Amino acid sequence: MKELLKVEKLTISFADRKVVEDVSFSVYEGEILGIVGESGSGKTITSLSVIRMTPESAKVEGSVIFNGKEIMKLPEEEIRKIRGKEISLITQNPHSAFNPVFKVGYQVVEPVLIHYGVSPKQAKKQAMEVFVKLGISEPEIRLNSYPHELSGGMKQRAVISIAILTGSKLIIADEPTTALDPTIASQILKLLRNLVEETKKSIIFISHDISAVGWISDRIAVMYGGWIVEIGKSKDILNKPFHPYTKALIEAIPGRKIKPKPIPGSPLDINWKGCRFAKRCEFARTDCFEKNIDVKTFDSRSVRCLYPLIQ
Ligand SMILES: Nc1ncnc2c1ncn2[C@@H]1O[C@H](COP(=O)(O)OP(=O)(O)O)[C@@H](O)[C@H]1O
Ligand code: SF4
Ligand SMILES: [Mg+2]
Repeated sequence: MKELLKVEKLTISFADRKVVEDVSFSVYEGEILGIVGESGSGKTITSLSVIRMTPESAKVEGSVIFNGKEIMKLPEEEIRKIRGKEISLITQNPHSAFNPVFKVGYQVVEPVLIHYGVSPKQAKKQAMEVFVKLGISEPEIRLNSYPHELSGGMKQRAVISIAILTGSKLIIADEPTTALDPTIASQILKLLRNLVEETKKSIIFISHDISAVGWISDRIAVMYGGWIVEIGKSKDILNKPFHPYTKALIEAIPGRKIKPKPIPGSPLDINWKGCRFAKRCEFARTDCFEKNIDVKTFDSRSVRCLYPLIQ
């Protein structure tokens, strides 16, 4: 499979605080890479660095290669062409994706006009076709509606339609279902999964919910305290987590046979040299607080832990 995105040794700091440290991962064509971790673990800021949209106060180091181009070094004009055309962003709040004063149709069709120069009539026809495909009933009426007239789920579908219409190769979906009710959320997950299967697009699916990430993703990257602590195939990771934090996340899934175990402590408490998870880790030893923690690789899986649970 072709490597569409390669992030290497990404480190992001605000003043002297490293909120992302030494993060490396790839996204292949036609796959969904899930990024999972608690709030504050660095998921959003990592994904924003891919389209160079981190806040100005952030110092970003490392390499981000998208489709053969080093994003970090591209002129602003080039990166603007990539944003919204080759890489689309879907966020938690579909309401903020639309300007309330313009009709949905205009806002869905406009990016297609900008990037492809097709006629407005043609662009509208394409939009209607995509709306139908995404299960939006009465597409003509929806296109003629103002954003506030659409439900959250409808709006999120409309945002996804823009990503399809612009022909994006990579969709970054940052907690796209968190604000939706569970039935709609699962419909959106299915939609995204079908999209990848039918079109060979790639998705970075970000969520704090390891069940959603596990269901939708081909591979999972688990983030903790600005590190990727484990990355590998979803099935392998869910069946047998190698990193103690991944194990704890899985054990905390509600509705399992065993009682969910909350993870004690706070992910923001990381003021020592060694493993960022050490204070909360049930397997921590003294050297976990003192040594540098390198990434260990086992076949298709990598783990950042001194004592991975491989037995
Ligand atoms: N503009 C900012 N200034 C300072 N710190 C920030 C800023 N944006 C994010 N952070 C910090 O970066 C860390 C990672 O944030 P984020 O990527 O939003 O986490 P997640 O998406 O996993 O919840 C957090 O500790 C957050 O406080
Ligand atoms: S390095 Fe040590 S503290 Fe960190 S996750 Fe592994 S066992 Fe736990
Ligand atoms: Mg976030």
